[in-house]
Amino acid sequence: MLFTNQERKVEIQYLPNVSPIVDNGEDVVRGLTTIPKSLPPKYFYDRLGSQLFEQICDLPEYYPTRTEMAILNQSATEITNITGICELVELGSGSSSKTRLLLSAYEKLGQPWQYVPIDVSSEILQQTALQLQGEYENLSILGLVGTYEQALLHLPPSSLSSRMIIFLGSSLGNFTQEECDRLFNEVRDILQPKDYFLLGIDLQKPKNIIELAYNDSQNITADFNLNMLSHLNWRFEGNFNPDLWQHQAIYNEKLAQIEMYLKCQEAHQVFFKKLDLKINFSNYDTILTEISRKFNLTSMENFLQSHELNIVKYWTDPQQYFALILTQMQ
Ligand code: AVI
Repeated sequence: MLFTNQERKVEIQYLPNVSPIVDNGEDVVRGLTTIPKSLPPKYFYDRLGSQLFEQICDLPEYYPTRTEMAILNQSATEITNITGICELVELGSGSSSKTRLLLSAYEKLGQPWQYVPIDVSSEILQQTALQLQGEYENLSILGLVGTYEQALLHLPPSSLSSRMIIFLGSSLGNFTQEECDRLFNEVRDILQPKDYFLLGIDLQKPKNIIELAYNDSQNITADFNLNMLSHLNWRFEGNFNPDLWQHQAIYNEKLAQIEMYLKCQEAHQVFFKKLDLKINFSNYDTILTEISRKFNLTSMENFLQSHELNIVKYWTDPQQYFALILTQMQ
């Protein structure tokens, strides 16, 4: 436990075996020595990377955040009416900025309730928990520091008779199909019958709209992508020169996913002292740093149902760019 306030309404706990970034760099070695080369997207998120991601969310071209917020704004009261008071467990809560729309609606029910934000950053959990505590009278907060998987394996029993797991921001899009399957199995295993799962997903749409969202005119997404190299330099004593790399984001229509790459501009060698690793890059070599899948609503409904998660209701925006899906365990 990190801290509790005097009334013991805020508590932060570390989940067992927390190692949000496995420091041995095994995944970096594997990614850079396998063809095609790739790096895990978790290395985007050092301090600067997290700030850049916040900036991405505010970009005019990056429609997912504002669209999901607009949907949440319209549906929050209806969601509370459907679920009634329940414990809210949020996977990857960050600054909980979007979730506040939902939290405010639950607060209006006027009964004691609990929010369980889960994030790998203890700093952001503490900051957010203290802010929220000041804003909502009926709320108690149990922040859990760890990854989604750890959280779903070690979630304490619900403090209320029902529970809703929340996964917003189309973070699911950064998971492969197998990883989605694993996550939904874990969600199913932790939920009791009649508990809820609320999911935000980015929908398939014309290529140009999607590509613009990942190739913004202010180059913030490019900086976010390139920052991974500086992060790896710091973490593993490497000598990547970000100036020799270029950001590339292309929409693969066949797989319905954005593929974000770092593209080498000049042949060179990179050395990581901590990993005892030397890699030779040639001109136009690419490293895949992220996929961001875009979903079809009907396929997602079927996929959720195959995990015993039945659709209660879904909401979209007028352009059908994004969807918020409320499901209930059988
Ligand atoms: C976190 N995730 C949902 C974002 C996305 O759109 O896939 C990450 C991102 N990468 C570039 N821009 C935003």
